[in-house]
Amino acid sequence: MSEMELRPGLADVPVAESAISFIDGKRARLEYRGIAAETLAKESSFEETTWLLLKGDLPTQKELAEFNHDLRSRRKLKYKLIDLIKSLPENGHPMDALQSSVSALGMFYPSRDVGNYANNWEATLRLTASLPTLVAAFSRIRNGDEAIEPREDLDHAANFYYMMFGKEPSAATRKVLDACLILHAEHNMNASTFTARVTGSTLANPYSVVSAAVGSLSGPLHGGANEEVLGMLDAIGTKANVQSWLENAIATKAKIMGFGHRVYKVKDPRATVLQELAENMFAETGRPAKYEVAIELERVANGLLGPKGIYPNVDFFSGVVYQSLGIPTDLFTPIFAVARVAGWLAHWLEQLKNNRIYRPEQVFVGKTNVDYIPLEKRP
Ligand code: ACO
Repeated sequence: MSEMELRPGLADVPVAESAISFIDGKRARLEYRGIAAETLAKESSFEETTWLLLKGDLPTQKELAEFNHDLRSRRKLKYKLIDLIKSLPENGHPMDALQSSVSALGMFYPSRDVGNYANNWEATLRLTASLPTLVAAFSRIRNGDEAIEPREDLDHAANFYYMMFGKEPSAATRKVLDACLILHAEHNMNASTFTARVTGSTLANPYSVVSAAVGSLSGPLHGGANEEVLGMLDAIGTKANVQSWLENAIATKAKIMGFGHRVYKVKDPRATVLQELAENMFAETGRPAKYEVAIELERVANGLLGPKGIYPNVDFFSGVVYQSLGIPTDLFTPIFAVARVAGWLAHWLEQLKNNRIYRPEQVFVGKTNVDYIPLEKRP
C-alpha cells in the first residue's frame, strides 16, 4: 500500500508557477496580471484584456491596433470547415460541436512545431479569432440558416453578436456581452485550464490543447453549470417556493447549481459584477420573474449555505444575463469558451516556457500478483 497522501481533486496542491491571474478567495478579489477583473470589465475590452493575459502588460495604442487587426483578419472559416459543421447533427450540443470544430480547425492550420514562438502566436490569434465564428456558425446552421460571415469593422463582442443574430447589438448590449467575455476570460488553475496545461505539456498542438479544454469546460460541475442554473430557477418557479425547495435540496444533498467554489468562500466577485450588469439591464425593462427567484434564492441560501462558505459563483447570474440578451440556453457554455480561450492560451504559452510533462502519481488500491485462470477453468 502506498504511503503517499491522496488529495482528491488536487485540492490545495500547486501544480505550476503562474503569473497570469491571482485570486483571494476570502476577500473576493480576482486580478488579471495584477489588475482587478471588475475594473477591466468596466473600463477595458475583451481584445485588450486578452492581450494583457497573453503578454503580461496592457498593450500600447499601436500594439492594440495591430492586435485588433490581426484578430479581425483571422475570423473567417474555410468553406470546408463550414461544410463539416453542416454535417454535424443539428440536435447535438453546441459544446460538442465546438470541440469537434476546434479540432478540425487545427487540421487546416497545422501547427505541430510548438517550439516556434511565431507559430504559437499565429495559432493563438487564429484560435481567439475563430471561436466566436465556430459557435455562431453551428448555432445558425442547426436552425437551417446560413452561417453569417464575420465583419472586420466590428469589434470582437459586436461581431460575435452579429454573427449569431444577423444584426448589430445596441451599444448597451455590446457592452454587457463584452464585460461578460472579460469576466470569464481567466481564472487560474480551474479544471479546463489545468486540462489545457496538461495537454500542452505533451507538446500537443494548440488546437488539441483548446479542444481538450472545451471538453473539460462542458461538464455541469464547471462551465456547464450556467445552463443548469436556468433549469433550476424554472424548477423552483416562484419566489414563494424558494425556501421549501432549498430546504428539500439540502436535505437530499443535491448540489445547488451556481453556488459553491473550490477557491471562493465568499460571493464570487464576478457574480457581483454580473448582478450589477443584470440590474442595469432590468432598470429599463423591469426584472424578469426568473431574476426575482434568483435573488430570493441567494437571500435564503445566505442563511442556509453561507455558514459553510457556499455563495453564488460566476455561473449564478450569467445565465439570467445571457437569456435577457436573447441567447439560447445551450450557447451559454460555448460563450464561456469564447472568453476562456484567452486564459487557456495564456496558460499554454506560459507552460511551454518552462515545460515538464505532467505525470502525477496514484495511490494504488487494487490487487497485485493475481494468477491468470484460463477461460475453460472459470465458471
Ligand atoms: N450546493 C450544495 N452543497 C454544496 C455546493 C452546492 N452548490 N457546493 C458545495 N457543497 C457542499 C458539498 O455538498 C460538501 O458538503 P459536505 O462537506 O457536507 O459533504 C461541501 O460543500 C464541499 O463541497 P465539494 O463538492 O467537495 O467542493 P468542491 O470544492 O469539490 O466543489 C464545486 C466545488 C464543484 C464548484 C461545487 O461547489 C459544486 O458542485 N457547485 C455546483 C456546480 C457549479 O455551480 N459549478 C460552477 C463552478 S464555477 C465554474 O466552474 C465556472
